[in-house]
Amino acid sequence: MEGQMTYRRQYNSTGSRSDTRPILGSRIRATAADVKAFWGTEACGSHFVEAQPGTAEFYTSFRQLRYQWEWHIPRLVPFAAQKGKKVLEIGCGNGADGVMFAQAGADYTGVDLTEAAVEATRNHFQVLGLNGTFQIENAENLSFADESFDFIYSYGVLHHTLNPENAFAEMHRVLKPRGTAVLMLYHKHSFNYYVRIMGYMRLRLALHILSHMGQFARDRIELKDQLKGVRGNRGASVWQTHYDNFLRQGWSYLKAENFVHHATDGPECPCAFVYTRAGLRQILSQFAEIEIKVAHFPLRKYVSCVPAGMEKQLASWLGWYLIVDLTK
Ligand SMILES: C[S@@+](CC[C@H](N)C(=O)[O-])C[C@H]1O[C@@H](n2cnc3c(N)ncnc32)[C@H](O)[C@@H]1O
Repeated sequence: MEGQMTYRRQYNSTGSRSDTRPILGSRIRATAADVKAFWGTEACGSHFVEAQPGTAEFYTSFRQLRYQWEWHIPRLVPFAAQKGKKVLEIGCGNGADGVMFAQAGADYTGVDLTEAAVEATRNHFQVLGLNGTFQIENAENLSFADESFDFIYSYGVLHHTLNPENAFAEMHRVLKPRGTAVLMLYHKHSFNYYVRIMGYMRLRLALHILSHMGQFARDRIELKDQLKGVRGNRGASVWQTHYDNFLRQGWSYLKAENFVHHATDGPECPCAFVYTRAGLRQILSQFAEIEIKVAHFPLRKYVSCVPAGMEKQLASWLGWYLIVDLTK
């Protein structure tokens, strides 16, 4: 199984980046193989659903949960407008949004770095009797000809590739003149980044590390160079895996520019950049038009009595997602 492959984590490779770039994550040292191995353990988001992956019941629950907690997706993504258009989705995951494009009448192509996601999306379409094209592709080096697509969609993907600028350039290349795109990328100036990740999670990890003082050398001997398949940020295995990362990397693991990569989609995630609106405007300046909205503050997931209007307002101020509308 891909997820059980031996993989050398970011701590022993030498990838480097310029510190002047207007995004966080300048110390990333992961390899492309690390990224593929992590995302290859299961199609993205499968762990949120109890039903057996691949079944009709699984896909129904997956779509239900997705649009319940990410209610901004149908509001902000122009699915219906893609009728008859050539749509490329980069990083298709379980294919939920791909299905929305196909149901709206788009000529859909879904690509992903991993076989797990491509197969899950192909299967999702098959279960619903929809047509589409599905293939493994690296966003940083797409196989499509220049000016192939009317619309490109990539939700929660390009912050996970090692060189997002290469992927943005590829998007621009394969988009037709005046073609449009919608991206979701992680937002630095958000509650999630400053309060949960940089505040709560780092403090909790520091306490976990301190509770193991005096046994680092012994614990280091027991480290295994294998993915455990930990996804998300909940459960005891999450803190143990962060501790393992600390044992490999030392105290610098807790620095913001290192820790962020392991605190969004789980401690084994090799790479997750966060962006500011101003930084993105600079990075995406090859596009003729750019509009950025802020979304996603799923407070009602945890406090059900919170009014929907309050969640909406908080999402637009402090949300974890930047929804980027681009025109070539
Ligand atoms: C967080 S999941 C998002 C999946 C889907 N868009 C969704 O919203 O559920 C990230 C996805 O990006 C894919 N990915 C990461 N780097 C990639 C790359 N360089 N090229 C293509 N896909 C990539 C992963 O395999 C994974 O399926």
